[in-house]
Amino acid sequence: SGFHHIGHKLLDWYGKNARNLPFRNTKDPYKIWICEIVFQQTRITQGLNHYNNFIKRFPDVQTLATAEEDEVLLYWKGLGYYSRAINIHKAAQQIINEYHGVFPSEYEEILQLKGVGKYTAAAISSICFGAKLPAVDGNFYRVLSRIFADDFDVSTSQAFTYFSQLAHLILPENAGDFNQAMMDLGSEICKPKNPLCPECPLREDCLAFSLDRVSEFPVKKKK
Ligand code: ADE
Repeated sequence: SGFHHIGHKLLDWYGKNARNLPFRNTKDPYKIWICEIVFQQTRITQGLNHYNNFIKRFPDVQTLATAEEDEVLLYWKGLGYYSRAINIHKAAQQIINEYHGVFPSEYEEILQLKGVGKYTAAAISSICFGAKLPAVDGNFYRVLSRIFADDFDVSTSQAFTYFSQLAHLILPENAGDFNQAMMDLGSEICKPKNPLCPECPLREDCLAFSLDRVSEFPVKKKK
C-alpha cells in the first residue's frame, strides 16, 4: 500500500527513542508474557517494581507453575485485577502440562493460554517469534484514528477488526519492534490528552494534525 513508509518512520524513531525498560533486552516469551499482562492495565511507572520483583521470585514457567497461588497473589498485591495473577499461574501449569514447559511459539497456541487475549498473543508472537501481527489495543485505536482522521467508533465491538485492518496498512516486517514503538508513541507522544504533536515523528503523515482536528479522535460514542 501507499502507507508503509509510516511504519518505517515509526521504526526509525523507535531506534533512537525507545524507552529503556527491563523487558526490552529480552525475547524470552515468559518475561514478555508477564510484562504484557502487567502493563496492559497498569502504567509502567506504577508496575515496574512489581514486574522486577515478580521476575526475580518467579524467573521461569517452572518456578511459577510450582509455586502456591497465595504466594503468586502476594507478589501481585497492589497491582489490582487479581484474576490476572490467578490466570498466569494457571497458564504456567498449562504450559507445563501441554507443552512440556516450553513456551508455545504459535499465535493460535498462545491465544489458548488462560488469560491471554488477541492483543497479548500478538505481542508475544511478534516480539519473541517474529510473527507479522499488529498488537492492537487502545493505543492503536488512538494513533490510527488520528493518522487517518478516521471516525470509526472505538467503543463498538467491530473496532478491533477494523483497526487491525488499518494497522496492516502500515505494518512493517519487524512487527515486534513496530508494536513496541506504537506503545511508546501512544504513551509518550500521541497521548489521550495533550498530545505532543510538535515532537511526533508521524506529524507529516497525520491527517488529523494537518486538519487541526487531533482532539476529535478517537471517536467514542458510548461512554
Ligand atoms: N505496555 C504493555 N506492553 C508494553 C511494552 N512491551 N512496552 C511498553 N509498554 C508496554
